[in-house]
Amino acid sequence: MNYRLIRFPGAMVACIVLACVAGCPITLTPDDGDNVNDNVVANENENENDNTAPDPNDNDGGVGDVGPTLQGLDIDKSMILPFTVQAAYNDDTMFFHMSWEGDRGDTHDYFRYTDGAWQREGGVRRDGQATLDQDECRGSTGVNSTIYESRVTFMLDDPNGPNAVQGFLEFGCTLTCHDNSRTMPTWCHEDGDVHKYLPDDVPGRLDLWHHRLGRANPIGLSDDQWVGQRTGDEGDGGGGSRHGDDGTGPYATAATGDDGSPQWVFDPATTDGSYAFPFEELFISPLRTFVDETAADLGPNAPNPVGIDYADAVAMGYEPSEGDTVPRRRLRQTEGSRGDITAAGTTFTPSAGDPLFGRWDSNIQRALDTGNGDDTALADGNVYNIAFAVHTGMVTVRDHYVSFAYTVSLGGGDADIQAVQIAGSGAGALPDFSDSSQFPVTEIDLFLPGIASYEFLIGENKNLGVEYIDPETGSLIDQSHTGATFLKDLGLGCRDCHTASGSVETFNPPKPGGFFAETMEHLVPLRGGVNTPTPVPAE
Ligand code: HEC
Repeated sequence: MNYRLIRFPGAMVACIVLACVAGCPITLTPDDGDNVNDNVVANENENENDNTAPDPNDNDGGVGDVGPTLQGLDIDKSMILPFTVQAAYNDDTMFFHMSWEGDRGDTHDYFRYTDGAWQREGGVRRDGQATLDQDECRGSTGVNSTIYESRVTFMLDDPNGPNAVQGFLEFGCTLTCHDNSRTMPTWCHEDGDVHKYLPDDVPGRLDLWHHRLGRANPIGLSDDQWVGQRTGDEGDGGGGSRHGDDGTGPYATAATGDDGSPQWVFDPATTDGSYAFPFEELFISPLRTFVDETAADLGPNAPNPVGIDYADAVAMGYEPSEGDTVPRRRLRQTEGSRGDITAAGTTFTPSAGDPLFGRWDSNIQRALDTGNGDDTALADGNVYNIAFAVHTGMVTVRDHYVSFAYTVSLGGGDADIQAVQIAGSGAGALPDFSDSSQFPVTEIDLFLPGIASYEFLIGENKNLGVEYIDPETGSLIDQSHTGATFLKDLGLGCRDCHTASGSVETFNPPKPGGFFAETMEHLVPLRGGVNTPTPVPAE
């Protein structure tokens, strides 16, 4: 297996892209044009309101004699990501501040003009590998590169609310992670996009606060979604169940013209005359994001470059030239429940010497009670369940960091995270989170989950006795979780037996009956699939 892992060395990324585009050592047989499912939007079900039908022409160019530039998976990537969270609330608004070190990750996907044609750039790192391997089961085989945005997210559960999800505190996000989810062991590309969902016997809804650092944050916004059971009508071809809240999301996705051309290019009146920027400036160009007219004045960098119709640009005299690059997503003002969360005060502070790697300080705000049924309402005096994730290093699917589930209290007593009540109302005045004596900092170690699916963890029958092969080592891996009966029958949770790391945490089981059974840092890699190919059932 040709598993090529490129380190993600921050500032070097731009150079790697160029070097590889100019002449990657890897060659592929020309793509056969069978790219039915390659549309990133269709695969992700990220935005039901994209007004963009999946485009059968996507990515049918480009994968000729050079392979995709793989970014993001780093075999040495740390199992643990230190993460901090603070929370506050006033009369009507909730505030979270989350911080970690990672890549800037504000670039997502693009159209690039090269060799006389437009092609797509950016996509899922595991699809990039499937393309190199020409492995039609393990992902799309038609991607040109794997540039991807960073995000910070959490799922929120009110154990006493109308959408309560039984077991979320015990299982955390693993309740939504399955063997047949995209890039997991029993998934195949032809299954379509199966992403996170609640098991058939676990009703309810998890409120997903989804702060996208490429597709929302540049205009000071966040995405707002939810996760439920599969209903079969998700429109993603695979029956995952992550949904956008009702309304209009923070970005639209460009349709692709018959000739592969993008739907939008820059309005030169907003860019000092440019319709596009050179591909080699992707990571440094201020034009790496554009907006529609509703978002021209949103966010910390306003006025923002605006995207206009390609046809209008051509009518104005635009002719593409080699290397011309434009974003595939056009950011916009949100509407309705999908737009409940704002991201005012979010900053990225580059590290010394590397402009593309540094510290993110995500600040997000939302009404305590949005009045929308697809949100978890928050109120003084209550305790909620919450589990975090960070996507960093240009990866998606299961290559993100996750946490166990924690509790957050709004004046409701004991909890892992204490949200501090402050005077006032509205989201206008942000709490001063730099004051850690007023706003206590909760340190949480996030970990890479590998292939720790719900089915594996509860020892569901279909997993028992199935042999899984780790393609990295060629050896069989274990399919039985010693904690399974405790999870299922005794109501214990991960934290009753495990910690994430061995360094900052001391084992402190929330419930009696647990026992220390090692760290995720140590255990998850034993099952394979962490930054490596996915173990699959033996024939
Ligand atoms: C009652 C205790 C208990 C609970 C609760 C529990 N586990 Fe475990 N887990 C164990 C034991 C024991 C092992 C085996 C440890 C070893 O091999 O050193 C284990 C192993 C694992 C492994 C490595 C599997 C392998 O094949 O080597 C992972 C991953 C894991 N647990 C994740 C979780 C997660 C995630 C949760 C929560 C959903 C959880 N565990 C809940 C006891 C528990």
